[in-house]
Amino acid sequence: MDERERSAAEIAALRERIRYHLHRYHVLDDPELADSEYDALFDRLVALEERYPEFVVADSPTQRVGAEPLPAFDSVAHELPMLSLDKCLSEDEFAEWEARCRSRVDYEGDFEFTCEPKIDGVAVSLMYEDGVLVRGATRGDGQTGEDITANVRTVSAVPLRLLGTGYPARLEVRGEIYMPTAGFRAFNEAAAAAGERTLVNPRNAAAGSLRQLDPKLTAGRPLSLFCYSAGLREGWQPATHWSVLEAFREWGLRINPRAARTTGLAQCFDYFRGLLADRDELGYEIDGVVVKVDDFALQDALGSVTRKPRWAIAFKYPSEEATTILRGVDFQVGRTGAITPVAKLEPVFVGGVTISNATLHNMDEVARLDLRVGDTVLVHRAGDVIPQVMKVIESRRPADVNEMPRIAMPEHCPACGAAIERPEGEVVARCPAGLTCPAQRRERLRHFASRLAMDIEGMGEKLVDQLVTRELVKDPSDFYRLTREQVESLERMGAKSADNLVSAVEASRDTTLARFIYALGIREVGETTAESLASHFGQLDKLRDATLEELAEVADVGPVVAARVREFFADEHNGGVVDDLVERGVHWPAPERRVSTPLAGETWVITGTLAAMTRNEAKARLVALGAKVAGSVSARTTCVVAGPGAGGKLEQAQQLKVPVVDEKQLLGKLKRYEANDGGGHEES
Ligand code: IVH
Repeated sequence: MDERERSAAEIAALRERIRYHLHRYHVLDDPELADSEYDALFDRLVALEERYPEFVVADSPTQRVGAEPLPAFDSVAHELPMLSLDKCLSEDEFAEWEARCRSRVDYEGDFEFTCEPKIDGVAVSLMYEDGVLVRGATRGDGQTGEDITANVRTVSAVPLRLLGTGYPARLEVRGEIYMPTAGFRAFNEAAAAAGERTLVNPRNAAAGSLRQLDPKLTAGRPLSLFCYSAGLREGWQPATHWSVLEAFREWGLRINPRAARTTGLAQCFDYFRGLLADRDELGYEIDGVVVKVDDFALQDALGSVTRKPRWAIAFKYPSEEATTILRGVDFQVGRTGAITPVAKLEPVFVGGVTISNATLHNMDEVARLDLRVGDTVLVHRAGDVIPQVMKVIESRRPADVNEMPRIAMPEHCPACGAAIERPEGEVVARCPAGLTCPAQRRERLRHFASRLAMDIEGMGEKLVDQLVTRELVKDPSDFYRLTREQVESLERMGAKSADNLVSAVEASRDTTLARFIYALGIREVGETTAESLASHFGQLDKLRDATLEELAEVADVGPVVAARVREFFADEHNGGVVDDLVERGVHWPAPERRVSTPLAGETWVITGTLAAMTRNEAKARLVALGAKVAGSVSARTTCVVAGPGAGGKLEQAQQLKVPVVDEKQLLGKLKRYEANDGGGHEES
């Protein structure tokens, strides 16, 4: 073999390895190589192909972004039409659809279905000939779409060549290209920082990205793909839709891990509810569930009407977007004095609830949106996240925009009248009055009593407001001076609730150092940082006396956080409040001498309900042993704790073969580790 032949062989081997690792990374979400190791393989292939351009082929992994910008997209006639779906908006409507299907084909038993998330992206058709991607097209009107081959080639999850064997000579894969929410946010943050146009939502973002005439622009967008059906499939006769998905998986095509087979109505309803509960944690936007009768013979018997199959339906979730009118803007003062503009909206139903407020973050955001009172705006609300104003619908503006009132930051704090400050280079404006500002005081007290802080059960926002207005509570330590009579004198407070509240205050004295630190409401010190500070210093006095250098030694504490902590404890008033709290009996266990963190490097996920402790308690104990506790399951999850009612996360763990334990096993593990680890039992 000469040098040239050896290189040809190496090029072939490299392509094979790169395809394998791309598939692990983008399709299975389970990489085996560090990014730098992958990059080295890729760079080697690029170098060899540069030396021997005659060996370059279109399906080489280096050729994703080759093409020059197009003058326009060609049109593509779909050989089989790309259908759309009928929809239903309730479980009752779904049951009616199921009954219609059964009577149409005279079916007695329960149907088998496939349920899949309905991805909010762009439908695409990917044509593979002899396993090589030859064309990508949009759906268009279902008959004719646009040729976006150069653009789909840049999407890493789209295989340029299928894996394995046994695929038909011509296979048309259909699926949805979408932008993951994390990528969408990152893209928008970068665009906003660069003063460029931001994208309105992940669906428009995906559509806009695929519509770029220059594939280099598409390549810069974080896009991914889920495949959900076969169009043309020459000579291949699978029996069920599910077997199509399984074959796709074998061929390296990305399948949604939440796709599931169900039998009968009840299992579909369980699926709808389970997926809805996990909607915010999927990492991509969905607008419902697509349910398909699984058996192809039944599908054929059911047939289609007007470009919609009778054998499939979209079960829609409440929309997370709506348009409404901006009635005005309020300015709210936060716990640390930050002034936040809040949009006052004409009430609108979105994401399953009626909202009348949405955050505008800061004045830069107001300027970016070019918002005026009276504007029609698009609002977005996902799960428990605060509703956001995404954009102004300019076409609904009156002709003379200048007639519409502009929005300006007030000069004085709406709560205390102090002159508002906005330090140069900062986006956030603040009231500098600290605890003399009643709004800051109230927010700080709410935070102190909140669930993850001192957890005074029943001490909600309304109650804190009353206590502040009636001047029964000024500083956090005043909670511990409240008398039974004072509590009973509050509005809407019966004898029973007064008893409960008094006991809850009493019970909250017994806490942990981490909670106590978090409850103090030091700027930049969230739960995790409070946890780090508590386990590092072990004792409150050590933390109070710590120098900037000592603080900076704590994991996750940088110079800014260190300065905030120093500043807080250096303040005389704060020192007094802390002393007072301790004097009023707030206490926590003496520090354990933790010498190792046996779960360091592990990531756990807790799902479902637990009986012996709350999820937060379980989380705190795992974190204390060094584990990270995450909100969603991935291939990198070490272990999932699943209690009764666990849904999607459990399924996902099983799919990804992540170990699952129940509460009893968790308790056993915690006890073992905690026993080994405390009490000065040093590891050498
Ligand atoms: S199946 C006849 N499955 O929804 C089957 N569609 O309204 C038609 N979509 O144009 C498609 N996720 O863009 C199917 N898991 C999924 C889907 C899905 C999203 C979109 C697709 C289609 C539209 C139909």
